[in-house]
Amino acid sequence: MSMPVSRRNFARLFALGGSAALFSDPAWASQAPAAPALAQGGPAAGDAFWTSVREQFVMPPDLAVMNAANLCPASRPALEALQRETQSVDRDPSPNNRARLYPEKENTRKALAEFLRVTPDEIIITRNTSESNNLVSNGLDLKAGDEVVVHADNHPSNLTAWREKGKRFGFSVVTIEQKNPHPGQEYYVEAFTRAITPRTRILCFTHLSSTVGDLMPAKELCRVARARGVLTLVDGAPSFGLLDVDLADMQPDFFSGSAHKWPCGARECGVLFVSKAAQSRLWPSIYSAYPGAVGFSRTFEGFGQRDEATMIAFRAALAFQQKVGRAAIEQRARDLTSQLMAGLSKLPGVRMWTSPAPELRAAIVSFLPGTLDANRLATALYEKDKIGITTRGGQDRAGLRVSPHFYNSPAEVDRLLAALRGYLRTGV
Ligand SMILES: Cc1ncc(COP(=O)(O)O)c(C=O)c1O
Repeated sequence: MSMPVSRRNFARLFALGGSAALFSDPAWASQAPAAPALAQGGPAAGDAFWTSVREQFVMPPDLAVMNAANLCPASRPALEALQRETQSVDRDPSPNNRARLYPEKENTRKALAEFLRVTPDEIIITRNTSESNNLVSNGLDLKAGDEVVVHADNHPSNLTAWREKGKRFGFSVVTIEQKNPHPGQEYYVEAFTRAITPRTRILCFTHLSSTVGDLMPAKELCRVARARGVLTLVDGAPSFGLLDVDLADMQPDFFSGSAHKWPCGARECGVLFVSKAAQSRLWPSIYSAYPGAVGFSRTFEGFGQRDEATMIAFRAALAFQQKVGRAAIEQRARDLTSQLMAGLSKLPGVRMWTSPAPELRAAIVSFLPGTLDANRLATALYEKDKIGITTRGGQDRAGLRVSPHFYNSPAEVDRLLAALRGYLRTGV
């Protein structure tokens, strides 16, 4: 329950002097000191390097959070940029100071384009993946008689959104059911291809499912759709910042992602890629001031006043990932996942939902922890073992979901395995 701000508390806060005091508060300041340097030698240097990567995050060393598919910590470079720019605007909210930030937004657009290997003309800076996905389902001119093909294993922002808008605008939604375990890339290519009819306008799927971590044949599905004049929306929330995503190679029409997931940026920033070919098909959902300066953003991104600090932090986060090495980040997360899956396969009663085949998964692992209650288990892991993971409720591949990232370590994975082994023996 949140405490009401009493007159006394309010007076105390006021006496502290507002945001200036907040930012000079030692507690805040100690959260984001200048980041220590990355160890020499890069990823090839092994443990010393990855320890120095972990030091670029303000999570305490004894807290093992393996929940990247939901929320990642902002890296220190991102946090430092967020703090610096937020402080600057609140200290001096004059148009003169604010105007300094507009070119910074365009620099973030350029960084996103480079990261995804496309052009700034095709990049829209949004609030998150949910918004990006909905800008597509709101913006296409679809009507009765049109069909949209969606994978059942999509997030509500790319599943419920289509179904509800289908009711409103009269188009129909065809669902491709998910199969467990992952039936292989060919299965999905065939299932989506079979579902396409002359009425199909768009295929919508998640690059790497956030439910159990199934990797979808994104490039092939985009190729099949393109050959038939059908658009593609690839939800990249669980792959952007984890896999070395190359949109020039994948060639979707739309690709969405969030800064606060695997890229380790600040919260409330995201991306929507819109291919040049698809731009004339997408109506803006919002008309307001402050559009972007190049390409599609000039007409599509007039979203009103924004938080430039968050965008600048996003760019710092991407630069940090480039510095660590994107291939190395993917490999590190995959190695931790392989270690986890090998350990889980030895635990009695564990039922694995994620495919053991490395080409069909990446760094999201879901499993049923025997007969243990998943909620109680996750609570015990957090409260007693200082391990943060998440649960999957309901009947659909229920249990626990673990998603390690490059800031986690083999020792943290071992700690989780040891804790699980103990609870499976003694109960929670
Ligand atoms: C596949 C997928 N799409 C979209 C989202 C929504 O992301 P956000 O909450 O950042 O909008 C999530 C969040 O977990 C997700 O897993």
